[in-house]
Amino acid sequence: MKQDLLGLKELSADQIIHILDTAASMKELVKSQNKKAPHLQGKTVVNLFYENSTRTRLSFELAAKYMSANAANITASGSSVAKGETLIDTAETINAMGTDILVMRHSMSGAPHLLAPLVSASVVNAGDGMNEHPTQALLDMLTIKEHKGHIEGLKVAIIGDVYHSRVVRSNIYGLTKLGAEVSVGGPSTLMPMGIDKLGVKVYNTVHEAIMDADIVMGLRIQMERQKKGLFPSTREYFRFFGIDEQRLRLAKPDALVMHPGPVNRGVELSTSVIDGDRSVITDQVTSGVAVRMAVMYMLSRGGF
Ligand code: CP
Repeated sequence: MKQDLLGLKELSADQIIHILDTAASMKELVKSQNKKAPHLQGKTVVNLFYENSTRTRLSFELAAKYMSANAANITASGSSVAKGETLIDTAETINAMGTDILVMRHSMSGAPHLLAPLVSASVVNAGDGMNEHPTQALLDMLTIKEHKGHIEGLKVAIIGDVYHSRVVRSNIYGLTKLGAEVSVGGPSTLMPMGIDKLGVKVYNTVHEAIMDADIVMGLRIQMERQKKGLFPSTREYFRFFGIDEQRLRLAKPDALVMHPGPVNRGVELSTSVIDGDRSVITDQVTSGVAVRMAVMYMLSRGGF
């Protein structure tokens, strides 16, 4: 039976570790001079993106090509969705062309969960509304594991627009399953009710959340999902919640700085922090290709 990757909520710690171990070896290939492996030869991967993306879409495409798959992209604006076709009809059409893996980003939480039982292709959630972005959290965990050697026992502070973030939800599921201590910080207007029930500490100041952290992860302020009045201005947001060098000193001296991208420079993180020697943001991008290779390869072999 085919398997999907819809979220980290559904995966066990052992399954997550298995994906990270596979991705670690894939990363060697990404960094090598010969980026061609036969793992997905004869398979077809289609990226169906209803929202903008740079790194997720391109990394799925490159991951598929590095493993010799046939890879194609389709966006809502360039498809028959623009003529009124439904999501389900579009997915069934793509499925009927011999698609083996359907990678999907959609603004509606639960969209990939809706399609997964209706198509024979394995569905990979590349971000659904405010719900989950599982491959982002997997690439974050791979990056942490490579730099710190382990995840268990680490203090991870995630700062920013927690309310709208699918990245934070997937990271909370994944990191807590692997034994990290997660705290979230941000304006109370951007903090969802009940987030503490996911096993995280909740703070409304950056300095409390960041204190003694091993990992400091900024979250993007999601302008496209904001209702008016959740914070006064981006300048004011940076003043109270932005991560600059002074605030970073509250974390451990060897703390890593992370961000899923795209970064709003001078809003979530200062430019000196983004480009500083503790930043692993560029390495996160490389891990992203490796994780997506691992996920698609494992799905093509029956799952995790
Ligand atoms: N982190 C992330 O999902 O980035 P994109 O929106 O560029 O894919």
